[in-house]
Amino acid sequence: MGVVIDGKTLSANIKADLAERVRSLRGEYGRVPVLTVILVGDDPASHSYVRGKIKAAAEVGIESRLVELDASVGEQELLDRVHALNEDDGVDGILVQLPLPKHIDSERVVSAISLEKDVDGFHPLNVARLWLGEPCTLPCTPKGVMRMLDSVGIGLSGCNAVVVGRSNIVGKPMAKLLLDANATVTVAHSRTRDLAEVTRRADVLIAAVGRARFIGADMIKEGAVVIDVGVNRDETTGKLCGDVDFDACAGKASYITKTPGGVGPMTICMLMENTIECFVKRKSR
Ligand code: GUN
Repeated sequence: MGVVIDGKTLSANIKADLAERVRSLRGEYGRVPVLTVILVGDDPASHSYVRGKIKAAAEVGIESRLVELDASVGEQELLDRVHALNEDDGVDGILVQLPLPKHIDSERVVSAISLEKDVDGFHPLNVARLWLGEPCTLPCTPKGVMRMLDSVGIGLSGCNAVVVGRSNIVGKPMAKLLLDANATVTVAHSRTRDLAEVTRRADVLIAAVGRARFIGADMIKEGAVVIDVGVNRDETTGKLCGDVDFDACAGKASYITKTPGGVGPMTICMLMENTIECFVKRKSR
């Protein structure tokens, strides 16, 4: 049985350190960092994620504000809200929960967030800086995965890392962070020919496909490190499950993560870290 990299425990430890940092920032600057979350519509998964973010903020001592808007909100009204938050000196981080309703251009909304308040690291200039190797706000999920790998001392230099999934939020930035750690990176996706043959070459496999238990034991190499970014709902049990068939793969992997209790809590924890970093950068300008 491989070692389970426990995202819940690791994130609890990091949050305790962040809480300490927030206490000292309060002393230094007279207030704590403020994160504003904009949530549009009534998608249950988005509501659940946002609840998790607000709970974590409270644990760390970050002040969170929630702006809930009806699914029918116009794009211009949403943009106006973002602009107002950009101008508000008392707001340090702005997060627009994705996905947005179809009639709203998500890219336009994300681009409207002030670069210095972009706690998700989704702003095009942050993305450009990431790919140019310049200092930037890192997207929370890939950042959290790197922290998990680091927590158990996995050496990435020269290893074969395979990322399954090519989204802007996870797959692409994940590949860049692994590349920066000197891994040899392959990005596989739904059109990849003989996917199992590709994933079986992975020393480190990152699953971010969004399909329940898609990665089976036949798709991983003996001793592989398997990180599961997926959050899916099992059709029959209604329970959350990952992209990796944990029960089938745990015996073959050297290290593996679980869903829930793996990458998810780390993503939220990195959001708290990013919020603190945005606050400090603004305050020390
Ligand atoms: N939807 C799914 N993941 C994320 C995330 O990390 N940030 C935002 N803003 N929306 C998401």
